[in-house]
Amino acid sequence: MAHLLVTGGAGFIGSNFVHLVLTNTDHAVTVLDKLTHAGNTASLAGLPDDRFELVIGDVCDRELVDGLVSRADAVVHFAAESHNDNSLIDPEPFIRTNLVGTFSLLEAVRAHDVRYHHISTDEVYGDLELDDLARFAPDSPYNPSSPYSASKAGSDLLVRAWVRSFGVRATTSNCSNNYGPRQHVEKFIPRQITNIIDGARPKLYGAGRNVRDWIHVDDHNAAVLRILEAGRIGETYLIGADGELDNKTVIEKILTAMGRDPGDYEHVTDRPGHDVRYAIDASKLRAELGWEPAHQDFDAGLAATIDWYRANEDWWRPQKAAVEARYAARGQ
Ligand code: NAD
Ligand code: DAU
Repeated sequence: MAHLLVTGGAGFIGSNFVHLVLTNTDHAVTVLDKLTHAGNTASLAGLPDDRFELVIGDVCDRELVDGLVSRADAVVHFAAESHNDNSLIDPEPFIRTNLVGTFSLLEAVRAHDVRYHHISTDEVYGDLELDDLARFAPDSPYNPSSPYSASKAGSDLLVRAWVRSFGVRATTSNCSNNYGPRQHVEKFIPRQITNIIDGARPKLYGAGRNVRDWIHVDDHNAAVLRILEAGRIGETYLIGADGELDNKTVIEKILTAMGRDPGDYEHVTDRPGHDVRYAIDASKLRAELGWEPAHQDFDAGLAATIDWYRANEDWWRPQKAAVEARYAARGQ
């Protein structure tokens, strides 16, 4: 058994990771989470007391982080400000949490020689053209577009420097767009599902031709666990499941799956600097670590996700009105 420190474990991907680890391994987990607007203790309800604890705190708190890292066998760093639209309104918390928070963890794992896995995003590579056959690969140049993606790019580069200069035992993964249960309603898919439940029309930015490479959150997390177990120190692994779809298609699928006319949505103000297309080449992860996605039927995964939001209104309802008020204020 190992003891994992999971930062951001009350958020979307981190909470699903904690459930996966506690169900499928005998590891113990300490979650460090600040409980920002995106953190939800309900996502961690019912976990076994003898193998799980939640510490509420900030990854930028060097003393707190140092103490927690000193007791861990490995750190998986999910904590971040994660939403592009929020970063366009107020970049400051993105710079602080994503850069200073990563620095704080790197210094602690350096001091205590603890294995570290860094969770990052495909957005660090910028975007691709719609008619381009290219996909992102581990050696693609960094070219981030938004304050969010620039802060994640900077955090990745800190990891590379700490590996090379200090011999920190770190790996990094850059994943594409996740979907599944427990995702905050500010994000695209849960926003549209909960709008439809509320009798409101889904909101599509611009013409909706932008392409995202969707992966089920459990496939992302299974890959992270595999990298933690068998990834080569200093390496970057791209995680993706060949799930490219444009936003218009996704909105139409959600409407259809929920029994509504697929054309019953609104076009709203586009995101400034909106990345056109993301696409991941995950062949290194597949070939080297034998990972394969288990949820490649997007329609089935989407239907299960819709069922989850229908069954868990208590989980998302407290956030919904404030999120929609913020979007309405900027014509979205
Ligand atoms: P999320 O916003 O749902 O959750 C983030 C969590 O981090 C929240 O629980 C929040 O309270 C916590 N947090 C924020 N600031 C903190 C701080 N200063 N100290 C401690 N905790 C803090 O995010 P998510 O979608 O689950 O993303 C998790 C990670 O995965 C992020 O690093 C993100 O960049 C990356 N990622 C996300 C996706 C995606 O599609 N959502 C894809 C690839 C990579
Ligand atoms: O690619 C990985 C990234 O995916 C992660 O690093 C980010 O943390 C995660 O938030 C996600 O970023 P996106 O900006 O791609 O996700 P978002 O859910 O905000 O939007 C997905 C697409 O849908 C994007 O093209 C914008 C569009 N959109 C979004 C919202 C909220 C709409 O058309 N309407 C909406 O209401």
